[in-house]
Amino acid sequence: MKPGLETLGCSDFLIFDKTYPERLKIRRSLVQQHPEDVIGIISDSDARIRLAVEELYSHLFKIYLPARYPSIFKTTRDKTDHINSVENLITGSIIPADAESISLHVALKIISENIDEDFFILLPHKTDEDTPGDVVYVLEAYSACFPSGFQPRDKIGKRLADIHRPVPKYKEKLQKSMDRFFARLEAGRLVKRINWAITVDEELYSNFDKSGPAFEGTLKKMTMKDLDLNKVSPFCLPLFHHILTDVQTFLRSERQTLHRLPASDAIVFAFHTYLYPIQDIKAEGSGEDLALAIDGLQSGSVPEIFTYKNGEKWADAVKQYLRS
Ligand code: HEM
Repeated sequence: MKPGLETLGCSDFLIFDKTYPERLKIRRSLVQQHPEDVIGIISDSDARIRLAVEELYSHLFKIYLPARYPSIFKTTRDKTDHINSVENLITGSIIPADAESISLHVALKIISENIDEDFFILLPHKTDEDTPGDVVYVLEAYSACFPSGFQPRDKIGKRLADIHRPVPKYKEKLQKSMDRFFARLEAGRLVKRINWAITVDEELYSNFDKSGPAFEGTLKKMTMKDLDLNKVSPFCLPLFHHILTDVQTFLRSERQTLHRLPASDAIVFAFHTYLYPIQDIKAEGSGEDLALAIDGLQSGSVPEIFTYKNGEKWADAVKQYLRS
């Protein structure tokens, strides 16, 4: 198992598409309803964490977003020609251009409410252990509305290896190469990784521990009938089928990126979540490709990942449907 990373051009860091306004509404309501799940910081007063959050914040709102998406983010300058605020032209909200005068909690909240992306900030810590660069990376802060099957709250303050404890064979097959990659990732480089899973009866907000026995008890082996495919209206946006109907089965995929912030030395792990109803995958002619990918997961180098993703429950029914 390899990290499977690919280098990206820096302008491709974040994706804004036609679903942005609707998904922002979901984000804003989650920030209201579950503030302590959606936003996390180990310590508001830690100078390194403050530097990292401020650095990410001003890079996003002062530099990247107004340059890359000027039709959404418009900067305003003060009398001395400094950018002091940014207007979100879709929502009409006006936000500070940097985070120096606001709490870190508010900074992360503004990020969640304006960008359809989840962010995790990790800082290097010196260690006596034999690790690449003699450091380990620890999760210090996050804004995460759409985590899939884990609780970010449980991960805060943990090292990368401990964050991945539920992932089968992580220690044996991934840990070394990932630690090496983190130690070597230089500022200015952006890398991407795609993950995917089939999810059943899950919303974008899926903030619960999927690896625990409680969850396993709630999932039974599915048949094609359980996929509930007929409930979907062909007229609604794919991403919102689940809001408008009772559809149950999606291909859920995250476009994950990693980059290092030059001043704070933090590494930012960010991801954008896609949900595609499996009917759409089949309708666009990619059913066999997905069925083959499921076969590959089952027979791949780490078949335990298939179990970790609850494959025993959904794989046969989904493949039968995709190949029907
Ligand atoms: C080189 C970068 C990374 C690689 C190769 C990687 C790999 C993986 C893999 C293979 C899984 C199992 C699910 C899947 O297929 O995605 C996973 C899960 C996960 N990863 Fe990563 N990861 C990376 C970076 C990170 C970072 C920086 C974080 C920081 C928060 C993170 C947090 C998680 C979490 C929370 C899970 C779910 C664990 C659970 O089930 O509780 N990953 N990762």
